[in-house]
Amino acid sequence: MAPCKRSSWISPQLCLLLVHLVLPFAVAGADVLQFIDPLIGSTNGGNVFAGATRPYALAKPVADVDGQNTGGFATDGSNIVGFSAVHDSGTGGNPSLGNFPLFPKLCPGDEVSNCKFLIADRATPYVTDSVVSRPGYFGVDMASGVKVSMTSSEHAALFRFEFPDGEGEHPMVLLDLTDLWKSRQNASISVDADGARMKGNGTFLPSFGAGSYVMHFCVDFFGGQVFDGGVWVNNRGGTEPKDLFVTRGFNLFYLEAGGWARFEGLSNNTLTARMGISFISADQACQSATTEIPDPSNDFDRLVAETEDAWREKLSPMSINPGGASEELQSSFWSGLYRSMISPQNYTGENPHWDSGIPYFDSFYCLWDAFRVQHPILTIVDPNAQVQMINSLLDIFEHEGWLPDCHMSLCNGWTQGGSNADVVIVDAYVKNLTGIDWDLALKAVVQDAEVEPLEWAYHGRGGLESWKDLSYIPYLDFDPAGFGTNSRSISRTLEYAYDDYCLGVLAQGLGHDDLYDKYATRSTNWQHLWRAQQTSLINGSDTGFEGFFQPKYQNGTWGFQDPIACSSLADFCSLTTNPSETFEASVWQYQFLVPQSMSTLIVLMGSEESFIERLDFFHTSGLADISNEPVFSTVYLYHYAGRPGLSAKRLHTYIPSAFNASHGGLPGNDDSGSMGAFVVFGMLGLFPMAGQDVYLISAPFFAEVNITSPLTGKTAQIKTTGFDAGYENIFIQNVTVNGQPWTKSWIGHSLFTEGWTMELVLGNQESEWGTKVEDRPPSWGGANVVV
Ligand SMILES: *[C@@H]1O[C@H](CO)[C@@H](O)[C@H](O)[C@H]1NC(C)=O
Ligand SMILES: *[C@@H]1O[C@H](CO)[C@@H](O)[C@H](O)[C@H]1NC(C)=O
Ligand SMILES: *[C@@H]1O[C@H](CO)[C@@H](O)[C@H](O)[C@H]1NC(C)=O
Ligand SMILES: *[C@@H]1O[C@H](CO)[C@@H](O)[C@H](O)[C@H]1NC(C)=O
Ligand SMILES: *[C@@H]1O[C@H](CO)[C@@H](O)[C@H](O)[C@H]1NC(C)=O
Ligand SMILES: *[C@@H]1O[C@H](CO)[C@@H](O)[C@H](O)[C@H]1NC(C)=O
Ligand SMILES: *[C@@H]1O[C@H](CO)[C@@H](O)[C@H](O)[C@H]1NC(C)=O
Ligand SMILES: *[C@@H]1O[C@H](CO)[C@@H](O)[C@H](O)[C@H]1NC(C)=O
Ligand SMILES: *[C@@H]1O[C@H](CO)[C@@H](O)[C@H](O)[C@H]1NC(C)=O
Ligand SMILES: *[C@@H]1O[C@H](CO)[C@@H](O)[C@H](O)[C@H]1NC(C)=O
Repeated sequence: MAPCKRSSWISPQLCLLLVHLVLPFAVAGADVLQFIDPLIGSTNGGNVFAGATRPYALAKPVADVDGQNTGGFATDGSNIVGFSAVHDSGTGGNPSLGNFPLFPKLCPGDEVSNCKFLIADRATPYVTDSVVSRPGYFGVDMASGVKVSMTSSEHAALFRFEFPDGEGEHPMVLLDLTDLWKSRQNASISVDADGARMKGNGTFLPSFGAGSYVMHFCVDFFGGQVFDGGVWVNNRGGTEPKDLFVTRGFNLFYLEAGGWARFEGLSNNTLTARMGISFISADQACQSATTEIPDPSNDFDRLVAETEDAWREKLSPMSINPGGASEELQSSFWSGLYRSMISPQNYTGENPHWDSGIPYFDSFYCLWDAFRVQHPILTIVDPNAQVQMINSLLDIFEHEGWLPDCHMSLCNGWTQGGSNADVVIVDAYVKNLTGIDWDLALKAVVQDAEVEPLEWAYHGRGGLESWKDLSYIPYLDFDPAGFGTNSRSISRTLEYAYDDYCLGVLAQGLGHDDLYDKYATRSTNWQHLWRAQQTSLINGSDTGFEGFFQPKYQNGTWGFQDPIACSSLADFCSLTTNPSETFEASVWQYQFLVPQSMSTLIVLMGSEESFIERLDFFHTSGLADISNEPVFSTVYLYHYAGRPGLSAKRLHTYIPSAFNASHGGLPGNDDSGSMGAFVVFGMLGLFPMAGQDVYLISAPFFAEVNITSPLTGKTAQIKTTGFDAGYENIFIQNVTVNGQPWTKSWIGHSLFTEGWTMELVLGNQESEWGTKVEDRPPSWGGANVVV
């Protein structure tokens, strides 16, 4: 069944209806698009982009609201303030992009002088039940009676505004020279004499970064004749002049301004607006729009169908036999996979700063989030894109001097911990991706480890002198070499140690054994902050665990951070909010973040039993923050203590209770698809230890999964015996790979590239499988504790 593959003969609403009629009979081989709900995570802080987009595309039209608008739209019942063509997905903090929104309206008495232009005055509720969102299509009805639908190509958005019947009225569309965050510095617009085209640009600030960027637009209107048009400032519009330059004046006061046009003779009361976007020039925006959408009045259905096909293609490496798993779980799975390919964004040909002829990606927002599971899922389902993204990171290194940790809107974003591009690169290296200049990669990663930039707030690492001399990042470090927020000494120490481990692996692979020795040694630096006598109290009562990471001054004296500080039981800690020695999570959380040497960590914690007790306490006491990425691996770390069954059990306490198919079904910011990728891996029954050729094996949520490698064309099969969709049988009893017993609780990437068949026997009790020391996931450095 392929419903809606070509939707030109039926309306989107009818199509959805058909899908729902057919759904109960859906089986493997059904159209996966029916399971994709872009509204998952559209409220409750998921901040997903819920509109129309092609995979990784620049153009991302959606309705912008005045409530939770980080991704533009939210199902929070707030008001629509515009329809804009570019967005980021899943980010936290300030809303990103949303530049140059259009807004359709009727002026009272058909008088421009009666029209309200300002955001606060034009805000209009939407009809809750009218929202339709599916791949390539977003539609919503406004309480004003205007019905709006939209789709997109790579660099342009196509909007349809259907106005209510109104005798003798001249519907208006205004364009606001703003973005969601109102970060605009100055901007220009020119409205063609006949009003049918508006062009211009604006200078804006990146939502989580330094510097500024210029964006250009080109809008054309179709479906009727222009009645009149011009520019507006504050709540006043006029037909002259036709050009406007607006800036930020006294006290950086924010003046609202833009262009407008009114129309007559609309066929079916419908006005079509085509908006091209470019980072190069308004002419390039016009060029992309006319090339990609040459016949705006008739291209809508073609664009939707092409977008649907593009998504089917991107999702095609995976197929599942749900084995009775609910449609909600399937929707979580496919929607998660979908969201992991919305961003980073492909800005190839749109980089005004350099043109090296290789694909250019941006909106790495941020690698601190995305390195853990989003990039690893791309390595499996879209390795060609992953290679292009890594080459973009290396291209940024060559032209800007450093690998970024976060990069959006052509600007550097703020670094949250270590230099995580290192992990992304090494993850690709150990999984044998090709088409990457590994010597260049080594140079870039070594620079992160050796050279401190003046501004380590947005690239590289800080405190490198201390890192080299003292082998830890000191509490209140004296660091005159460079500048960043001088906090996070514990989490930076842990992250730098892992970055160095990854660097060592790359160096060794490229034949630099000397470098390997050096960085392998540095990767043990985390041990210097382990304070064996540290205890942890909650409300005055001892949790009973002894030994935690603690901050240490330059002189070797211990500082103190309450191990529960920055957890869900205490205050949030970020770069500027309550800066602490751990970033966005507690010492309790960070105590588990030693992915290179888990066995050593377990020794420091006393015993495997004690390690397991800590994990259990962490996950059941309210200390674990499932809404933020550092928590992901902790769900699975029982594998390292020989108890893979407990990982599966823990996972089921979070899916679906914290990750589900409702509009508020993500526990936190999706972060460029990270939450989505976590769900996908969880349901596949594999968890990647990013930076290592290691996937921890657990029971899948489906009876059978096939994953075809886009590189080799071979199909990995994950099969189960004893699968039950009630999830009693979540414990692996036995595993075979290609028919041979597989005793290890982990497997490498060859599963995918070689197309192995992994068969799992499931039962309702833990078994012996994966419990032996030699069957545990690799752990570097054994138990050679240095403190
Ligand atoms: C626009 O604003 C940017 C950033 O504030 C500034 O660099 C630029 O000079 C301004 N352009 C004009 C024409 O004023
Ligand atoms: C923005 O548009 C104005 C008016 O067309 C033009 O003078 C200016 O050069 C443009 N700015 C940039 C950065 O292209
Ligand atoms: C106008 O609407 C009618 C009824 O929905 C439809 O048949 C016709 O094709 C539409 N015309 C145009 C130009 O879109
Ligand atoms: C996986 O591939 C095998 C071999 O082609 C096929 O028999 C099986 O039905 C597929 N399973 C799924 C879930 O697609
Ligand atoms: C990004 O866009 C460029 C230019 O259109 C294209 O060559 C490249 O394949 C795209 N990358 C992906 C992963 O789609
Ligand atoms: C600590 O005490 C406060 C006040 O009595 C209470 O609200 C909170 O739930 C307690 N926290 C824990 C983790 O027990
Ligand atoms: C080490 O430095 C800290 C912070 O300056 C200070 O409080 C402590 O007394 C010092 N310890 C020693 C042994 O000098
Ligand atoms: C779905 O997930 C959200 C976000 O984590 C959670 O608040 C909600 O309780 C979950 N719903 C169900 C029915 O489990
Ligand atoms: C698992 O495999 C072992 C040996 O490979 C065998 O002895 C045992 O019976 C199997 N257990 C189950 C539950 O299949
Ligand atoms: C990568 O290549 C190396 C050397 O050929 C090989 O040993 C390893 O198994 C490969 N790993 C994967 C995941 O393909």
